[in-house]
This record gives sequence, C-alpha cells and structure tokens, in this order.
Amino acid sequence: MSVPNDVRKEVEELRREIEEHNYNYYVLDSPTIPDEQYDWMMRRLIQLEEQYPQLATPDSPSRRVGGRVQEGFKPVKHLVPMLSLGNTFNEDELKDFHRRVRSALNDQPVEYVVELKIDGLAISLLYENGRLVRGATRGDGETGEDITENLKTVGSIPLKLRQPVPRLEVRGEAYMPKEAFAKLNAQREERGEPLFANPRNAAAGSLRQLDPKVTAGRHLSTFIYGIGHLEGPEMDSHAEALQWLKELGFRINPHIKVFKTISGVIDYLNTWLEKRFQLPYVIDGMVIKVNSLAQQRRLGFTAKSPRWATAFKFPAEKAKTKVEDIKISVGRTGVLTPTAYLTPVEVAGSTVSRAVLHNEDIIKKKNIKIGDTVVIHKAGDVIPEVVEVLTEKRTGRERDFIYPEKCPECGTKVVREEGEAAVRCPNPYCPARTREGIFHFVSRAAMDIDGLGPAVITQLLRAGLIHDAGDLYSLKFDDLIKLERIGEKSARNLLNAIADSKQRPLGQLIFALGIRHVGQTAAKKLAKHFGSLEKLALATEEELVAVPEVGPKMAESIVRWFNRENNIKLLKKLISAGVNTKNVETKKAVNNSLAGKSFVLTGTLKNYTRKEAKEVIEERGGRVVSSVSKKTDYVLAGENPGSKLEKAQQLGVEVIDEEKFKELLEV
Ligand code: IVH
Repeated sequence: MSVPNDVRKEVEELRREIEEHNYNYYVLDSPTIPDEQYDWMMRRLIQLEEQYPQLATPDSPSRRVGGRVQEGFKPVKHLVPMLSLGNTFNEDELKDFHRRVRSALNDQPVEYVVELKIDGLAISLLYENGRLVRGATRGDGETGEDITENLKTVGSIPLKLRQPVPRLEVRGEAYMPKEAFAKLNAQREERGEPLFANPRNAAAGSLRQLDPKVTAGRHLSTFIYGIGHLEGPEMDSHAEALQWLKELGFRINPHIKVFKTISGVIDYLNTWLEKRFQLPYVIDGMVIKVNSLAQQRRLGFTAKSPRWATAFKFPAEKAKTKVEDIKISVGRTGVLTPTAYLTPVEVAGSTVSRAVLHNEDIIKKKNIKIGDTVVIHKAGDVIPEVVEVLTEKRTGRERDFIYPEKCPECGTKVVREEGEAAVRCPNPYCPARTREGIFHFVSRAAMDIDGLGPAVITQLLRAGLIHDAGDLYSLKFDDLIKLERIGEKSARNLLNAIADSKQRPLGQLIFALGIRHVGQTAAKKLAKHFGSLEKLALATEEELVAVPEVGPKMAESIVRWFNRENNIKLLKKLISAGVNTKNVETKKAVNNSLAGKSFVLTGTLKNYTRKEAKEVIEERGGRVVSSVSKKTDYVLAGENPGSKLEKAQQLGVEVIDEEKFKELLEV
C-alpha cells in the first residue's frame, strides 16, 4: 500500500510535535500541553505506523513505549573507556586534590565546575548524524552492554538532536526518581514481589529488562554530565560543553555551578549536605571538575580516573548497631512483614531504631540473627535497611529468627504462594487486616478522613464501637467522648470529617475498599467505566477484563472481594449511611455559550495554560481537538503558534487571539 502524502506529512508533524513536547516536559521541565493531548498524539502516531509499516523508523518517538522483547544484550566496546572518579571524603582531602591540580598546572589559576553526583548508573549514548544509534551501560569500563531499545523508552533521552552534529558520544547517569521508586516498591509489595533495596538497584534492574515495555513503565530519568567523543564544534570549557549539550536536547542538572576558588567550592558542597534530602532523586556526593578543557588535557588521566576531577562523598549514612528483636506485623492484604528493632543510633542526622527486613528470603540471604551487630544504611527519607551483618562480632548467643507458621494476630496458618516472596495470613477476617484496612480506608488518597489516626482507630476497635470501616458512619458523639484523649471539640471535628467523607468521588471509595491489586489509577478507571459501586459489585470477570488497565488477576480479585460476606455487610453499611456510590461528573457547565463549538489550540497563551484553556472551553460546552480541519470552529493562537495556524488560514478557519477568546468566554 503506498502512503498518501498527507499521511506522510501528518506522521512527520506528529513526530516533530511529540519530540518537542518531550523536550519541554523532560528537559525544560515546563510542559505546554496536557498529558491527554500528548497521549492522543502518541496513539495516533502508533496507529498510522501500524497502518503504514513502511513509515516506521528506529528513531520514531513511538519507540518510547517500548518495542519488541529482546533475547539478550550484546556487548559494546566503548569508543573511549568509561573511567571512574577518585574520591575525597573531607575538606582536607579536597584541598589536597586542589594542590595537586595547581602544581601540575604550574600554579595557573583554575576554575572548577561543581555538579551533583547522581546515584544511578552510568550510561553512554552515541549519536551519528544527529540520531541515537546506540545506548550502553558502563560495564567494566571497556565493554558495556547494548541497552539501546530500553534507553529509547526514557523520555529525557533525545532520539534526535536539535542541531546537526556528525558524531557525538555523551555520558550521563540514568536514575529512578524517589517518588517513582516508592510507587514501584509499594506496587511490588502489594503483588508480593521482592522489593528493590534502593533507587539505584531499581534503575539498574529496570534497564536490564529484556522487554522494553517494562522499562517504559518504570519512569526513569537522566542527567547528562559529559562528552566521551565528539566530531563537531570545538569547545573551550566543560561549562560551555554542558550548555551546548542542553541546546542539543539533553537534560542537564540545574544545580551545576562554576567557582574560581576552592573555598567557593567547599562552601557550595556544604550547602548540599542537608539540602540533598529535599531533592526528588538520590545523590551520594558532588563532583568537582576542572572547567578549562585545555587544562583538563594537560592534567590527563591515571590508569583508573581523570586527574582533572574528583568526587566528594557525603558523610556516611551508614552506622553500626545491634538487632534487639525482630517482630512481624500484618498488613491489610495479609502480608507478614518483619521489622528489625535496633539499639537507637544516629544516622545522617536522625535517630534510627527500626529497619525494614522485607521478607523471609531477605533475612535468610543476609543471614540476620537476633543479637547480631549490623551495619544499617539510611538513604535520605527512605526507610533504613540492614546492609550487612558483622559476623565477626558474633558471640554465639545470637538467635535465629523463626518465621511464624501462624499469623501472630489471629493464629491462622500462613501461606506462601508459588513464585511469591511474601507470606500471607489468608484469613480475610483477621483483626490485623481489619485494622490496617480501616487505616487505609481513612487515608488521604482514599476517604481522606482527617483526625482519624491509628491510635483513635485502635481505641474504637478495642472498645467494640466499630468492627469495620462502615461502622465509622454510625459513630455517635457520646461514644467518642468516652475515649481517652478525645474532648468535645475533637469529637465534633471527627464526626464532621466522617460526614464530609460521604461525598468523596467514587474512585476514591473504590480505592478505599482495599481490594488487592486495585490501586488508585485502576480504581478511577473502574469508577468511570461502571458508573456506580452497585454495578461494579455485580460485574463478572469477563466484564472486568474489558476495562483497559484491568488484567485477569485484578478481575479475579475484585469478584472475590465482592462475594465475601463481610464485604457485603460493609457495602450495605456504606450505602445506608449515604456514602456516595455514583460516579458524578464533577464539572458543571457554567453556561453553554460554546456548546458544539470546536477549538484547536496553538502557541503559548499569556493567561491560561493549555489545560486551563481546555477546561474553560469544556465548562461552556465546547470541545478542544488536536488537529485543524474544515469542521474546526476556532483556532486559538497564542505566541509562537505552530503549523496549525497556517493550516487554519489555508482552510479558512477563524483564527482568534487571546483577547477575542476572552470576549467569547464573557458572552
Ligand atoms: S563525571 C571519568 N559527573 O559517578 C569519570 N560522574 O565514578 C567521569 N556520576 O559511575 C564521571 N554523577 O556515572 C560524573 N555529575 C557527575 C556524576 C557522575 C554521577 C557517577 C558516574 C560514575 C561515578 C564516578
């Protein structure tokens, strides 16, 4: 089938626009269109490439969703070895580094560039004639692994450069942001899969997936920090090179600074000692590089590392302490989680007295016994972990931790499903599961009931005032003030908060039920698809799997949940209390002045983001579409409009500016 000219053009335009939005979103950190519009363009591109396979190219942004499953990773010989950095651990060592640099340069003045040392894994990206042709891991420094297809799914990595360059190899760090790491582990915990110990391992694991679609779902990011090989323009300094790389479309860390003195460098390092915990990604130090490339060449390399750079490692976030006990807690899905209770110790500015042990396998693998002296590690706001047992400190009095065969709360025999690391209490009526289920029900992302913390819930359960989350809605003022530490005012606030929660959107209610495998996103999708809790409760597995995002495992879990007697009781209580069980469209039309009108947006508006403009149009009954056709009523053009403006003019569609748009809204 030959490709019609307008299709060819549309594909080119879509690719250009998608990459432009990627650049705005990932590199400049300032998206200009709503996510849905981006998704729409991507879907359209994929659809056209499927219809006309001859149009597919290896650097099409459609590759970002992940291509075919691979059989393995080919070895890649690096053009120039990927070395590592020498380390310094304190001011004195840093000053020694500075003295060595000065003396090798015959006391010439030196400027330093200071960068954050991102805790991820080193990658190399090779571009030929502006196209990404190869992406690799560092490996042993000489030879790495070809992970091109996986790296293509990382949004911040340009598939094409924004300016022509004959040949360029850049180096940088691929990492997993803290938020993505926390979400990934929460999801894995829910599914009973082994957890990643830290964001670096998670990033490494994500890049070594044979199926690039898995990598695509892991929300990795990158910062590029240098050039390995360049056939292109001459440059004088590292800072200049970074600026150029940014113009080419690479994501460069915004906290990079140039200093003329070593004391300036030291002051800057010190500002990051505390501030680093506020970053959305983990850093394990700073990197100090000589800025002038001529000076870098004079300084050269040792066998392992450049003489013109060094890493400054932050003080240890590790500490030695003793495991006093190991205790098991039972979560709302019944998973038994072991926690180590430690002799309190200071780590990276806070006192640590517990560490997560995740599961039985990890205790065995790390060979942790009660009474052991261990090294713990705390990375910023991540929960501390035991990294190592100091077996040489054993006295013989240490005890093995015997993993319970019965649930510590209800005595039911625990089960470990095939292929899962987690051990579960299978009793759906287990009091621990009920309690944790209520904690979840009231949490922010669920029914968001303010003031109902674990302590109050535990008291309510002990006093027999509630048996499940449904009972919260029949609590009385007189019941509450009988509880410890609850006065009249807080009792009244609590009742108000409980009453308010009846109006939560259906998606939040579905999430609040705590059905295994149903996270926030799936809950929203279910709410939208079924429209009411009652309909969802009656859905069959076939009907459920028809919903995008719902797989057979989730479908089975939902059906099972709605068939359980205690859950049916809970639903009855919620319904009779008047909790909202319908999916109400929250947007109410302000007026209908734009009913039936379609708009195409192009360029940047002064007073609205794209999302806001879309909202006000939709509130008035109008629609926003992404491409201009004869049927389009208006093209709203802001500053620097794209080709849509030309198209509108060609087709004779009315073009309006922001002023005119405001007038339309005020009618
Ligand atoms: S420069 C010749 N800059 O730290 C080595 N490295 O051993 C040049 N890293 O695994 C490396 N952030 O991947 C440099 N801003 C940064 C960095 C950085 C993280 C990693 C790098 C390597 C290790 C250095």
